[in-house]
Amino acid sequence: MFTRFRRKRINPVLRDLLQETHLSVNDFMYPLFAKSGQGIKVEVKSMPGVFQMSIDEIIKECDVLKTLGIKSIILFGIPDTKDSVGSDAMCDHGIIAQTIKEVKSAHPDMFVTTDLCFCEYTDHGHCGVLDPVLETVDNDITLDNLARQAVVHAKAGVDMIAPSGMMDGMIYALRKGLDEAGFSNLPIMSYSTKFSSAYYGPFRDVAESSPSFGDRRSYQMNPANRNEAIAESVADEKEGADILMVKPALAYMDIIRDVKNNTTLPLAVYNVSGEYSMLKMAAIAGVIDYDKVMMETLLGFKRAGADIIITYHAKEAAILLNKG
Ligand code: PBG
Ligand code: ZN
Repeated sequence: MFTRFRRKRINPVLRDLLQETHLSVNDFMYPLFAKSGQGIKVEVKSMPGVFQMSIDEIIKECDVLKTLGIKSIILFGIPDTKDSVGSDAMCDHGIIAQTIKEVKSAHPDMFVTTDLCFCEYTDHGHCGVLDPVLETVDNDITLDNLARQAVVHAKAGVDMIAPSGMMDGMIYALRKGLDEAGFSNLPIMSYSTKFSSAYYGPFRDVAESSPSFGDRRSYQMNPANRNEAIAESVADEKEGADILMVKPALAYMDIIRDVKNNTTLPLAVYNVSGEYSMLKMAAIAGVIDYDKVMMETLLGFKRAGADIIITYHAKEAAILLNKG
């Protein structure tokens, strides 16, 4: 025998020297859900360890995150009132604008990204303005509103926006709207390849954003399509996106690698709610070693090609990484 792979696996120091992929606290972006009120921190039944929080609680949570070395969050808003267009999302006093202002003033060193969409803000729960004839989202009217929403976030002091609605031309419309309003340095992380996925189920509980009729298959992608998945991300790069994304992550490892190989832009992956809850529930049932399965999963995203991992596991993983 000439080749012995095990020669390099016997000594643990050599094993570490030869490790190809590394996970770091710098890779994580942590999702937080903002609600109006004071002292509110309500755990989501389907996502143990994930909470809807009032802004004061989010500010306290940022202290905890910084202690762990987590410097990046992505914010979702849960408004008091919803309407047909999602007005709260386009208002300078809306929940998300308020949250950005207060979080950035308490934590100027926290990197704050916002999810840019309308499904949490519309009474019908779809990701934009409805076309009454098609009974689905009107793409081009929604683009105008997305640009308005982006400028509201920018004025409130956000560090990056992340449009998640899968509208055609959204990156071009946002870049144009932001540049015209004087925000040419605000980066856009596009949810560029986002599938219509049942893995978002628990998120829709926490964000109160389930569609009241139908589903999102006329704007989010068919999970079966690999060529289209690449084309969607490449199109957003051409429109001026700064960072691309594949979402969900776990069932789409092949797509993560495909997109990575077809772009020179940095790539984010969204380790979504259902993926998080599956591990949590398996841990509660006592059938897996949660810490090990979690770290193996997160490392897998890096190996597949992720530069940024958006994950509800960020705090737990940071604690383990900090221990060394
Ligand atoms: C909003 C949005 C969703 C998620 C992130 N942004 C839900 C959806 O598209 O229905 C899912 C996140 C998760 O499941 O953790 N468009
Ligand atoms: Zn949406």
